[in-house]
Amino acid sequence: MKKIHSDLQKKIERVIGNISEISLLEEQGCTSIVRKIKSSKGNYLLKSASSEKYQTWLKAEALILEKQNQENLLRVPRYYGFIEEQDGCHLIMSFEEGVTLTTALKNAASKSEEMELIMSFGQLLDQLHRTNTDVHQDKNAWLDVQLKRAEGYVKLGQCDGSMELLELLKSKKPLPVKQTLIHGDCTTDNVLVSGRKVKLFIDVSGTAYGDPRYDEALAIRSFFRNEEYKNFFYEGYKYYRMSPEEFIYFNDGLYEFF
Ligand SMILES: Nc1ncnc2c1ncn2[C@@H]1O[C@H](COP(=O)(O)OP(=O)(O)O)[C@@H](O)[C@H]1O
Ligand SMILES: [Mg+2]
Repeated sequence: MKKIHSDLQKKIERVIGNISEISLLEEQGCTSIVRKIKSSKGNYLLKSASSEKYQTWLKAEALILEKQNQENLLRVPRYYGFIEEQDGCHLIMSFEEGVTLTTALKNAASKSEEMELIMSFGQLLDQLHRTNTDVHQDKNAWLDVQLKRAEGYVKLGQCDGSMELLELLKSKKPLPVKQTLIHGDCTTDNVLVSGRKVKLFIDVSGTAYGDPRYDEALAIRSFFRNEEYKNFFYEGYKYYRMSPEEFIYFNDGLYEFF
């Protein structure tokens, strides 16, 4: 899928008009190939997946983004279309200016910039977890689904986690908390920064009603040992503060399977 063949290009053009330029993004993710596409109507992001596992994830992301065009509960790119081909599938969304928080932190020129970035990340996540919804869900339902998915991946050899670790996670579930709207893969790679603030979630295939501690753990994982950064985060994120044991369960445990 290095090149876009003419048949696929025609299908994309039916959605966004005549294409004038296609370029691979400098920042690529782990599950897909991402391209910027310019057309007469504007700039778009094409996200393509080829393996069966990642096609399933991309399809889930497409459904979530499409729903958000109406619901508007999440700060996410706009959905434009989804194309399924024999050798892969392709999601078309709005192209958003900005860089990931991972990159923004690498390039930050001062402590105050780092603080602003991390605090705004906390705020965005705080806002998400406080989103009002009518959904009332059993407190363990999401975790049980994730453990089942994890088991499938272990059996197929499609993850880092082992069956032993999975059995441990099943037998030592943390005390349940109220379920909220969650991102589901909330690392610093999956939020976009513009103007020194984290503004948008991307890579939303895991978005669901679930355990907010999973988001919290993945949000702080890249600076878990940096007390100063963590304090910046919790300046913005006031919804909950997980214990070290909860962090280990989600970051060193559950995340190993996804
Ligand atoms: N809507 C978008 N606008 C601009 N850039 C994007 C957009 N979505 C993703 N990107 C860029 O593409 C990269 C990979 O996207 P992502 O959805 O995280 O893919 P993966 O599932 O492979 O991790 C991101 O790091 C970001 O730089
Ligand atoms: Mg990603």
